[in-house]
Amino acid sequence: MARYRPVLCLASVLTLLPCSGAAMAQNAENGRRLSERWCTECHAIGAAPGKLNGVPSFAAIAARESITSDMIASFLLLPHATMPNFPLSRDDARDIAAFVLETKK
Ligand code: HEC
Repeated sequence: MARYRPVLCLASVLTLLPCSGAAMAQNAENGRRLSERWCTECHAIGAAPGKLNGVPSFAAIAARESITSDMIASFLLLPHATMPNFPLSRDDARDIAAFVLETKK
């Protein structure tokens, strides 16, 4: 029986990683770079003024009471009608979400 133990250990490490890893993998600095490249065409990010009328600034999005980084990340990954769809990885979407929430005043 003893020789099965390492396998069990490894399995539990692997199932735990995605949970703890996801939060730590958020990198708002990467999110800022991606946002400056993809989002400033329409959204005001940070102090920069928005370029398109009626588009909420990142600060305004972050200020919504019920918003979570999960909501922003899944919004970016799912197809949406009013905004272009971006070829973002899950990690990129999380990083952008972290950055959006950081712009909250
Ligand atoms: C071509 C213009 C355009 C670009 C580029 C754009 N957006 Fe948007 N975005 C919009 C518009 C328009 C809305 C408002 C949608 C609505 O309220 O129906 C919106 C809404 C949002 C929302 C709020 C959704 C909600 O719950 O109301 C988020 C979050 C968002 N954008 C994030 C981003 C991010 C991050 C990027 C860059 C990766 C980006 N957008 C790039 C036009 C754009």
